[in-house]
Amino acid sequence: LKMLSLRVPTPTSFDFRRYQAGDLERRWRLSRDSFLSFSPKFEENRGFRFGVKSSKSDVSFTAAEEEETLPEELHAELMPKHVAIIMDGNGRWAKNRGLQPWDGHRAGVEALKEIVELCGKWGIQVLTVFAFSTDNWIRPRIEIDFLFSLFERSLKTEFQNLAKNNVRISIIGDSSKLPKSLLRVINEVEEVTKNNTRLQLIVAVGYSGKYDVLQACRGIARRVKDGEIEVEEIDERLIEEELETNCTEFPYPDLLIRTSGELRVSNFLLWQLAYTELFFAQELWPDFGRSGFIEALMSFQQRQRRFGGRKS
Ligand code: FPP
Repeated sequence: LKMLSLRVPTPTSFDFRRYQAGDLERRWRLSRDSFLSFSPKFEENRGFRFGVKSSKSDVSFTAAEEEETLPEELHAELMPKHVAIIMDGNGRWAKNRGLQPWDGHRAGVEALKEIVELCGKWGIQVLTVFAFSTDNWIRPRIEIDFLFSLFERSLKTEFQNLAKNNVRISIIGDSSKLPKSLLRVINEVEEVTKNNTRLQLIVAVGYSGKYDVLQACRGIARRVKDGEIEVEEIDERLIEEELETNCTEFPYPDLLIRTSGELRVSNFLLWQLAYTELFFAQELWPDFGRSGFIEALMSFQQRQRRFGGRKS
């Protein structure tokens, strides 16, 4: 159990403020420009927030975020380094509520935000999510256009926050058919966050495992044609270098989660999943949340990974 202590001055005043979904945050003002606060959300994580006012906004250090001990069901030393997620079930979630598929995708973004935050807090280093498959191009144009504009808006609105929280964003997939405005945002976000180290969020857009292997084959063939390498030199390491997951230090997910009860890999990462542990959750993606994530991680931590070897 991590202990954290802070020496703080005696509170000078108390105030309350509402934030996000109407949760009441209690604030103890410590001095003109600092405060200590508790809110239901932070209490759930057994945390508190210490803030300093700046001219633009409150700059706050959330002890819960920086120091949050893992939920007691989980073991820090057994946490996966790389988690991949197929966020399935947005359409059904919307349909169950008499809503349109895009309402489901909007709820899907909110669900993703929570999981990204938890990955950052719990020491997971890479999170790869399947946002749009090359196979999704056959969906109605109106849904595709909505998805792209949702990605663009989400990246624009969330990226400052992600950048501030030391999250690096990388996008993988065939970008040739993506709208120009989305491409511009992607390039900017990748560039601005490239040196961030807390969590790498890899978003697969216009991606499929077969596409990735295919483009890697082309890359290798070009290198052979240019006389840079001999055919005999082609090995696993070289293929690894050409796959789009070369954007990360940890290209092989330890755990793949798919929501909504479907038991398929659906052309997501293929080469990279060779020894990945699989977890299939019944919940639709917008309902998965913290409890679903804890359950998936608990299941992962109970597995014995042998990578083809014998039980020691
Ligand atoms: C699958 O649900 C989900 C998708 C095809 C899109 C997932 C995208 C998001 C959650 C948004 C991510 C946003 C960013 C910024 C990365 P489905 O429509 O196939 O569900 P169904 O099987 O119930 O129809």
